[in-house]
Amino acid sequence: MQRIKLGGTIESGAIALGCMRMAGMEIKDAEELVRTALDEGIDLFDHADIYGGGESESIFGQVLQRNPGLREELLIQDKCSIRYDYYDSSAEHILQSVDQSLQRLGVETIDLLLLHRPDTLIEPEEVATAFTELHKTGKVSYFGVSNYNSAQIALLQKYLDQRLIVNQLQFSLAHTPLIDSGINVNVQSDHARDLAGHTLEYCRFHDLTIQAWSPLQYGMFEGVFLGSPKYAKLNHEIELLADQYGVPNSAIAIAWIMRHPAKMQTIVGTTNTGRLRDICAASKVRLTREEWYRLYLAAGNPLP
Ligand SMILES: NC(=O)c1ccc[n+]([C@@H]2O[C@H](COP(=O)([O-])OP(=O)(O)OC[C@H]3O[C@@H](n4cnc5c(N)ncnc54)[C@H](OP(=O)(O)O)[C@@H]3O)[C@@H](O)[C@H]2O)c1
Repeated sequence: MQRIKLGGTIESGAIALGCMRMAGMEIKDAEELVRTALDEGIDLFDHADIYGGGESESIFGQVLQRNPGLREELLIQDKCSIRYDYYDSSAEHILQSVDQSLQRLGVETIDLLLLHRPDTLIEPEEVATAFTELHKTGKVSYFGVSNYNSAQIALLQKYLDQRLIVNQLQFSLAHTPLIDSGINVNVQSDHARDLAGHTLEYCRFHDLTIQAWSPLQYGMFEGVFLGSPKYAKLNHEIELLADQYGVPNSAIAIAWIMRHPAKMQTIVGTTNTGRLRDICAASKVRLTREEWYRLYLAAGNPLP
């Protein structure tokens, strides 16, 4: 597995495991999934306080408890600021959420804490006091954001003593607003609409690692595009490349993200060990420029 430096700081595998769907899993199955991930070179596990209402963190905590020494082998990333019917980036909520996450996970430190979604009522000075407190007490080592645009990152960063090192955003072959407007500068087309706020370029310029969430989904959890008749042309091209490289189809979909020179970290969400191994075969593939653009076009995108 390729290694990347998150925000130019800590090293981690280019693929990480998202634990959003871990809620409801048997502990032994979750344990096998975590072991398989480590075996494949995945060392970052992505959580959020809201996943399964906290159950995903609790299950992961039990896996850690049953395996002494495991904590030292991996990085725990967690997120807060989404409440059930509103967003809350207040210092009080951040501090409380981290304490509860630490308790459910049964650990003393969260390696990376992200603010989950932009909160228009954010008061960056308040976030700064919370982050400083969390850093000083050793509860959180590094910080980042998720679903932020470039201006929102710049605004928050202005008040922080700690550098934001990651921005987690939805990105897949079937969800490309992050790159579409950059390919269609000054073009009259829907693809030129800047839905992502120049965030890709900003993150590259300021050395924030983009983490791609839902790398196999289309829409907002509408389904997996692999094998979907809605994406027949894309699946046909994926199939041809999978045959050519001798890897499963899912590996080609992930290799497409890994090929981008922004050096994104892909957060995959499978709960199935076989599928996870298939996905990790992406590490063996480096798509050519021509193959990369062929997949982008096959997903229904135009080039000007
Ligand atoms: N920051 C944010 O706002 C945000 C939002 C959403 C997610 N996330 C993070 O991103 C992670 C990944 O998201 P995700 O779970 O949506 O990612 P994903 O990897 O795109 O989707 C995983 C889902 O697709 C299914 N799947 C995977 N491969 C398949 C295949 N070949 N055929 C059919 N079904 C397949 C999986 O089922 P099986 O489990 O049965 O394999 C699972 O239900 C989450 O765990 C979370 O950590 C972040």
